[in-house]
Amino acid sequence: MSTTILAIETSCDETAAAIVVDGREVKSNIIYSQIELHKLYGGVVPEIASRKHVEKINQVIRASIEEAEVTWDDIDAVAVTYGPGLVGPLLVGVSAAKTLAFAKGKPIVGVHHIEGHIAANYIEHQELKPPFMCMVASGGHSHLVYVKDYNKFEIVGRTRDDAAGEAFDKVARAIGLGYPGGPKIDKLAKEGDANAISFPRAYMEDAPYDFSFSGLKSAVLNYLNSCEMKGIEVNKADVAASFQQAVIDVLTDNSVRAAKDYGCSKLALAGGVASNTSLRQSLLDRCKKEGIEFYFPSPVYCTDNAAMIGVAGYHEYMNGTRHDLNLNAVPNLKIGER
Ligand code: KG4
Ligand code: ZN
Repeated sequence: MSTTILAIETSCDETAAAIVVDGREVKSNIIYSQIELHKLYGGVVPEIASRKHVEKINQVIRASIEEAEVTWDDIDAVAVTYGPGLVGPLLVGVSAAKTLAFAKGKPIVGVHHIEGHIAANYIEHQELKPPFMCMVASGGHSHLVYVKDYNKFEIVGRTRDDAAGEAFDKVARAIGLGYPGGPKIDKLAKEGDANAISFPRAYMEDAPYDFSFSGLKSAVLNYLNSCEMKGIEVNKADVAASFQQAVIDVLTDNSVRAAKDYGCSKLALAGGVASNTSLRQSLLDRCKKEGIEFYFPSPVYCTDNAAMIGVAGYHEYMNGTRHDLNLNAVPNLKIGER
């Protein structure tokens, strides 16, 4: 007997729905990205995102069911991201999930967005099983998570200020690349010299797995200002490459150190920043050297999608998690909280 989950994700600016079987097989993964809409403003505008989710959610859910060629009789539960994220966008997904679950008589399973990002690794790596260390780097989060089991997580490190993706977005905006900055810096950095400018790498002595990117962001802004004042033309590719290298060095060092200290032979990468090609290469090289198995999802499963929520939702469902019609959006939901 297989278990089929309809998953819904609307925590930020992607309206997404997916059908996932047994927590590994993605039957459909529909993503309506609102990026074009928010580009105009240089970042996600929560109210606009909420309205677009309302407009698109039914269409996206219907498409996910049609593409997977399943019927409601095949669906065992509705999984939905209920936090963390933007409250308006989250409410759209949660309301859609509750309505469908009520109308069709299916159980609801609320899913933590970050647990979803981690679970994205199970889709293409059928052999990957906990325990492992996972570096989650997205637009809103930078966490080092010790994945003890499919439903057991321990946060071993977190950012003290900006998330890694946020730093990418802010620096990209400062050098005029537009939103979202991560993919644009990734591309431009290939034409630059990563050693051209020496930007700071923050390591916290009292918390060896924590991150801080605001000092790095300020250093880039100061560099740009001082070039402007001196009338020096900025080499944007060098700035992109040098900034990116500073982020990569810290993410690589801290995650490999955490994996080793926790006795993990496996390290996984997750979240939007996980699609960064140089970060993947850096971790691949370092893990090879250290004898650690390294896992990362394809880009489509790194940035926000509902397939990852379907995988995490499956494990919650199998673990007995059931929410009811009182399920609410929790914008600051903590990892491991039910
Ligand atoms: O996981 P995600 O889609 O949304 C959140 O949950 O936050 O992550 C989006 C973030 C953005 O900050 C974006 O700039 C960054 O991921 N990102 C990248 C790349 N692709 C997306 N950062 C660096 N390199 C990339 N290739
Ligand atoms: Zn995300």
